[in-house]
Amino acid sequence: MQFKKQVTVGLLMCSALLAGCDGGFQTEEAKASGSTVATGTDSGSAMGDVSVWPELKPALQSDPKLEARISELMAKMSLEEKVGQMIQAEIKYVTPEDVREYHLGSVLNGGGSYPNNDKLATPQDWLKLSEAFFEASMDTSDGGVAIPIIWGSDAVHGHNNIVGATLYPHNIGLGAARDPQLIRRIGEATAREVAVTGVDWTFAPTVAVVRDDRWGRTYESYSEDPAVVQAYAEAMVKGLQGEKGDDDFLRGENLVATAKHFVGDGGTMRGIDRGDNLVPEKELAEVHAAGYFGALPAGVQTVMASFNSWNGDRLHGHKYLLTDVLKERLGFDGFVVGDWNGHQFVPGCTVDSCAAAINAGLDMFMVPSDWKELYKNTLAQAQSGEIPMARIDDAVRRILRVKVRAGLFEHQRPLAGKDGIIGNDEHRALAREAVRKSLVLLKNNDNLLPLKPQQNILVAGDGADNLSKQTGGWTISWQGTGNTRADFPGATSIFEGIEEAVKSAGGEAVLSEQGDFSADSFTDGQQPDVAIVVFGEEPYAEWHGDLSSLEYQQATKTDLALLKKLRAQGFPVVSVFLSGRPLWVNKEMNASDAFVAAWLPGSEGAGVADVLLTDAEGEVRYDFTGTLPFSWPHYVHQTVLNPYHEDYEPLFALGYGLQSGAESLVSNELTEDGETYVDGALEDAWMLVSRPRAPWQLQIAEPGQAPVAVTGNRASSGEDANITVASIDMESQEDARLIQWKGLRKGSVQLAATAPQDLSRYLQEGAALTFDIRVDNKPEQPVSAAIACGEDCVAELPLQNTLQSLKPGEWSTLSIDLQCFVEKGADFSQVSNALALSAEGQLSVAVANIKYVPKAAGEAEIRCQG
Ligand code: BGC
Ligand code: BGC
Repeated sequence: MQFKKQVTVGLLMCSALLAGCDGGFQTEEAKASGSTVATGTDSGSAMGDVSVWPELKPALQSDPKLEARISELMAKMSLEEKVGQMIQAEIKYVTPEDVREYHLGSVLNGGGSYPNNDKLATPQDWLKLSEAFFEASMDTSDGGVAIPIIWGSDAVHGHNNIVGATLYPHNIGLGAARDPQLIRRIGEATAREVAVTGVDWTFAPTVAVVRDDRWGRTYESYSEDPAVVQAYAEAMVKGLQGEKGDDDFLRGENLVATAKHFVGDGGTMRGIDRGDNLVPEKELAEVHAAGYFGALPAGVQTVMASFNSWNGDRLHGHKYLLTDVLKERLGFDGFVVGDWNGHQFVPGCTVDSCAAAINAGLDMFMVPSDWKELYKNTLAQAQSGEIPMARIDDAVRRILRVKVRAGLFEHQRPLAGKDGIIGNDEHRALAREAVRKSLVLLKNNDNLLPLKPQQNILVAGDGADNLSKQTGGWTISWQGTGNTRADFPGATSIFEGIEEAVKSAGGEAVLSEQGDFSADSFTDGQQPDVAIVVFGEEPYAEWHGDLSSLEYQQATKTDLALLKKLRAQGFPVVSVFLSGRPLWVNKEMNASDAFVAAWLPGSEGAGVADVLLTDAEGEVRYDFTGTLPFSWPHYVHQTVLNPYHEDYEPLFALGYGLQSGAESLVSNELTEDGETYVDGALEDAWMLVSRPRAPWQLQIAEPGQAPVAVTGNRASSGEDANITVASIDMESQEDARLIQWKGLRKGSVQLAATAPQDLSRYLQEGAALTFDIRVDNKPEQPVSAAIACGEDCVAELPLQNTLQSLKPGEWSTLSIDLQCFVEKGADFSQVSNALALSAEGQLSVAVANIKYVPKAAGEAEIRCQG
């Protein structure tokens, strides 16, 4: 099957996209004075055309009294104290004593990091640590100046690092509600819960405008529609920070917010987290920066630099975008914080030394563990003039400006330590309302929904009674994994919500994950009248969620089997799909009578039952009102799909969403052809690009031992560490793996799939397996490259001679015609290892960029046809 070529239309009409671009963004008069921008000497990155960016005034008028107060403080600060302000360390690696000694400006807790390393730390424990940091920062016993520290945390869907907090739907679900007022109220409620714990600052909202839904952070984005992101960014910033001009702006029950990640995070090639965004500048400004046109005028006080690059240049070192655009053109007078060691990716930088980032306009390093070395090096660079003093002063002025505005010096915390705020009924009711509004009804044949509660309702699927699936990543732990029911006190699962509603109306709901029931499952001895199946993605965060294909359960299809099994028994099936993004689910859709996209709804699962079920009288309680924040794919290759494409052929368009009772018939015969074509051709199948891409996992395999998964940046096998795999740099940080064999036994490093993959199409299309390789020593004993195809199916090619012919220490690209593996018995319809490199003797090689490239067999170094 061929698909029409997809063409990205450069840019859509300004007015269609950006609510204000013909009204709100007029060129302003010269900006108000007071926001001086100092920059470093090395320009770092190319200039662009600043005129494609609307000119904005600083959101807050320059306040001469405030600036004078800062000048006074700064006049007394030593250079050491100033550099200390520019450092943000992580609470696992920094103590109040360190803060006192180094006059650090900030601390953060990363995802899944808690006071005393205790997941169950109470709000009082959080507050206690926060007070200890504050006291330390105000200690002037060494003659220094008292500058209050600021603590930042990722409260990205509620105060999600705290057990018992209210967890709102992730941003993608909120996008479906199209309700900025709701977003503002969520911001207010979140700020209150955060304020209880003595945390002053949240790293939210994410204002990414996502292009390729395979990106693991898609759910952190409100919408693919820049206008929605812009409106929501404004509402969320106002909710979190309060209203500019009000007495409690940034204080009291409010927090400091962050617009992140500046800029272009949602537009990286192939949806690769921390990857490269290649769009023209106009598109960067009008699509990817849309959220900043909401957040900046609302007065957001901090902006987080992004991990990604724009046309090859890392944002952390991008003077043009951070300084010329953000601070000058867009009038941003708060401070730019880095992302988690994000500065290390700037050319010439390491985790502990990066003058280039500060010179480009970064004001505060987020440097979780290596802060002391970075502090020392930054100090030395300031002393030597590598970082101009004016740049240091500008950064510190910005940081102090935010601290003064936020009232941190006054240290009034009206909510600190208060009971009855975290996870209270009012906040949970708000979250439940948000769940109701986030549900999008995609299919409702025969008007199956809403269901009458007085029925026998079978509730199935592993998402039905599963708070982890429901809440997703950034929930108590970073990845949202490792939590149990006990970690969600006060929360309600989707099943619990259904059960409650059904029971109170006189019906019966029975839970069976596998969809099993017997004659005595229901008290009346009858069959189910209907089944509700709740299923979807496992939790993930950041790149752990990057996908190579949008196909749901590409390999296992266990949920499809469950749907089919239930439907075969003659009762209708309602699917409730939990996911962080639209996925290709045509098969599951065909096997369902009704289909609801429920995203990642958070702690208040009862909001689902509110909409799925009528009241006892059969009256609709809450109608479906959610509409798609992202286009839903019809074909599996539609990874980049939005209305700004020519040939926009979604299954359901941006903004689609049925209401209960509305006439609609979705075909039960949607195409089930799940092959990946782009521009009429098969796409490269990436298995490892910086990191392995799902479903592929990197493993060390030795005979007779369970494989060792390589998840962190270093792993080895056996007690004697016969094989070691470590992340190293080829072109960018940690984009390659160094594999070292001691040669004690033959063993391999492999890219294994969670379930066998059908890659036969690649063979038909003349693909080659290609990867970059650097051989450090010429192998003296056999080496091989193999593909595995399930039990007892291994096709192994000798590689020793080829590796011997390569120049040691130099990178080259190797490609192998897939046909060569067929000759050795490979079955590409069920590939379990896409590549296994084995060595018998001692060997050291580095590899990167492992993929199958269609039509590349003819040019391959190792060829077996033609
Ligand atoms: C993420 C940010 C987050 C930070 C602190 C980073 O890895 O990209 O979004 O705010 O960590 O947890
Ligand atoms: C932290 C996250 C952070 C991530 C980035 C994790 O260990 O908990 O907050 O975003 O590392 O690498």
